[in-house]
Amino acid sequence: MISSERIPNNVNLSSDKRLQRALEYWQPKDLQWWREMGPQGFQDYHQVYLRTATSVDPKGWAHFEYVKLPDYRWGIFLAEPEHDRRIGFGQFKGQAAWQEVPGEFRNPLRRLIVTQGDTEPASVEQQRMLGACCPSMYDLRNLFQVNVEEGRHLWAMVYLLHSYFGRDGRDEAEELLERQSGNHDKPRMLEAFNAPIETWLDFFAFTMFTDRDGKSQLLSLSESSLDPLSRTTRFMLTEESHHMFVGDTGLGRIIERTCELMKESGFSEDVRKVGGIDLPVIQRHINFWFSLSLDLHGGEVSSNAANYFTNGLKGRAEEDKHQDDHILAEGVYMLDSVDEDGRPSRQEVPMRNALNEVLRDWYVEDCRSGIDRWNKKIASHGIDFCFELPDRKFHRDIGVFKGLYFDPSGHRISEEEWVRRHDEWLPSAVDKAYLKSLQAKPVFERGKFANYIAPPLRGVNQRPIDFEYVRTEA
Ligand SMILES: [Fe+2]
Ligand SMILES: [Fe+2]
Repeated sequence: MISSERIPNNVNLSSDKRLQRALEYWQPKDLQWWREMGPQGFQDYHQVYLRTATSVDPKGWAHFEYVKLPDYRWGIFLAEPEHDRRIGFGQFKGQAAWQEVPGEFRNPLRRLIVTQGDTEPASVEQQRMLGACCPSMYDLRNLFQVNVEEGRHLWAMVYLLHSYFGRDGRDEAEELLERQSGNHDKPRMLEAFNAPIETWLDFFAFTMFTDRDGKSQLLSLSESSLDPLSRTTRFMLTEESHHMFVGDTGLGRIIERTCELMKESGFSEDVRKVGGIDLPVIQRHINFWFSLSLDLHGGEVSSNAANYFTNGLKGRAEEDKHQDDHILAEGVYMLDSVDEDGRPSRQEVPMRNALNEVLRDWYVEDCRSGIDRWNKKIASHGIDFCFELPDRKFHRDIGVFKGLYFDPSGHRISEEEWVRRHDEWLPSAVDKAYLKSLQAKPVFERGKFANYIAPPLRGVNQRPIDFEYVRTEA
């Protein structure tokens, strides 16, 4: 059951009146933000079958029920403390994890938390118009589930800011509600979170690829020496996996339907004639969101990343799986880079300075499994087409490849060729217009699905696929 406290939590909030008051002061501002910048058109008259985190018990941490979106209970939940948790990497390896923020690391820790925090409301803003063009009630519910949980992740970061960073933290928490995705004067901090998400293909590609960047960041923050940060992000990962499930299966269902339509139409080349989403346009969306998400991992050579690691603020994803000393005072990384003339070259860099790239390596492999699964699906329909992850040099705006032009296979090309062939590789205006025409008429009927997407294999929380996942209040 959801607790009756104003802010559900497992941090004994009522024992810290000052903190409780500060958060209760922030709460109505958050709700106002949600009403203005959250899902448009579904705030007042709709009830959504949503899961709400009520504890961190692995056997049953969530509760499902119908709620009106603004009545969702955003709570503060940290994974259970590990007895005698020790720092797992960096110069303080082996020492007790920190329960308070050390003064000398106050600024970089605040920066890490604010950067993570900024992405959470940003994605809600990016996705706010999608409800009105949904392909099914099931998908509509999944969209809102992702949205409310990103809202809870914002709470998670705001809790840390309020608890451990005093006045500065409270100011940062206010600013998290003031920046806006895509806003000229006050944009969100990271570029992928300023691109609008106007089509459901974009939404699924975003949750597949950009939420997966969230996973790599959360995994590396969950290694942090700052124990409350580690515990908060560990629990966020539980929710995050559903977001990637939505993206992975959403793309998978579109691909499935495309294959069916291709078969039905006698493998005609142009599946758009029968209202499907052609495989090349899906590839272009993969190229776009994957490359934007690569940028989110930061520059290849980074002294910030080195400092975060050395000081134990942010580790590598799955730190304990790395077979080394977890200190990395020595060690080098062979980095794919470019020479002064922009030609591809290999460069040796100290391992600590290459940690953004190490995380990016982890991320690329995590993405690849989805691609392999979809390719098997296409092959099982007897269709000769393979999705590929673009080379990591393609369409980059951060790091050594910025400002240079590469095709998706990683070959250096001229600017002229880039301009000429751009629309082969990234979603074009024609693609967007087509996708918008497909979703112009939303599907709100129980158990019905838009023509371009296959139904899921099963419903949510053991409910049937034709369950009324979103209902309108009488
Ligand atoms: Fe999140
Ligand atoms: Fe997410």
